[in-house]
Amino acid sequence: MLRDEQLRIIKELRDHLKGDSTAYAKGMMRAPVDTFTCTDLLQKELDQFFKKEALLLGLSPDLPENNTYIATSETGVPILMTRDSDGRFRAFLNVCRHRGVQVIADGRGRKANFSCPFHSWTYRNTGDLISVTKEERFGCIDKGHHGLVALPAEEKYGMLWVRPTPDGDPINVDAAMGGLGIEIENWDIASHPYVEEQTLEANINWKLAIDTFGENYHFDFLHKGTLAPQIYGNLQTSQAFDNNYRMVFASKTNFDQIVEHMPEEDWPYRYMTLNVYFIYPNTIFLVDAIGLDLLRMYPDPKDPGKSKTHHRYYANPEMVNYLEKQREETGENHEPESRFVGFNEIVVDEDYAMAELTQLGASSGAQTHYWFGRNEPALQHYHNVHRKGVGLPELEVIES
Ligand code: FES
Ligand SMILES: [Fe+2]
Repeated sequence: MLRDEQLRIIKELRDHLKGDSTAYAKGMMRAPVDTFTCTDLLQKELDQFFKKEALLLGLSPDLPENNTYIATSETGVPILMTRDSDGRFRAFLNVCRHRGVQVIADGRGRKANFSCPFHSWTYRNTGDLISVTKEERFGCIDKGHHGLVALPAEEKYGMLWVRPTPDGDPINVDAAMGGLGIEIENWDIASHPYVEEQTLEANINWKLAIDTFGENYHFDFLHKGTLAPQIYGNLQTSQAFDNNYRMVFASKTNFDQIVEHMPEEDWPYRYMTLNVYFIYPNTIFLVDAIGLDLLRMYPDPKDPGKSKTHHRYYANPEMVNYLEKQREETGENHEPESRFVGFNEIVVDEDYAMAELTQLGASSGAQTHYWFGRNEPALQHYHNVHRKGVGLPELEVIES
């Protein structure tokens, strides 16, 4: 993020804190409850968001060197992403051209060639079919036309974008980012090493998983013993970037003392804030002192009441260096605890558990609509871009 913008955001948070206010939307909104239960809507979402749209499937450090790969079936089709020997990012359907099995199991590693487990046809990380086992017995096929099927793929600003359907136009990352590209690039994503990943399965609609990150009105109540001592609740900046949004929350660790007593050129923005980005259509990207979190939410293709969150964590290199130095000085060599322990105490045990109750409430028939308050502008924005994406009218502003 550019320094001027960081200072502007800190001052905005400071003023909200002093004035007991927060970023507001123009009014309230009501969203129909069947947003979270409707099977017709689910089908539209699968077709529109998870086949036609470009998706942010990873970050540059997922492919840290030439001849590394990452394979994932999270979108519903097996996808192989590679960095070839020239450093170019590519993506393919991870489907063998012989009899169609998945060529390389989901996971990550170093590999330039991929041999299919069935009959061992072998592909280069450029997608080229380089050998057909016992070709003289199999028969002669044109290898030049039987490479892995390429998917539109672009690497820009430290992000890896893929459209999970072949053909179609090249991906326009700048259009997808809606003006956020340079800001994201300034986080220097490439310098954050990948650490670990997890998949969270929950009995909640995938949009409720996204909504979890879309407001901090609930912090002082739901997260009373976990997040509330660390981050101010009901205090945020909120800004839309076309389909995306960015919210910034203030850390309670010395935020007010720092802005009061430290010259602004020294304000350590990253250590004073939690930055929450929504990146259309299904991704939450978090930036804080500890590192980067990339969370991709997907619906269960058969049940609007179930979803999966694929979560990767990348460490802040400054923290890695700091811990390394501490280890050298103290001689202690404690393995750092998984980032996911503390994260899941909040997101799984509190947020997703609460979202399961919302999901149950949605199925109960108790009411037809839910409310999004003036102090929940990001939720309003998200639900309107979601609705626009599936051809539904936007939610109306209800002035209060
Ligand atoms: S299916 Fe891959 S080699 Fe036969
Ligand atoms: Fe929460």
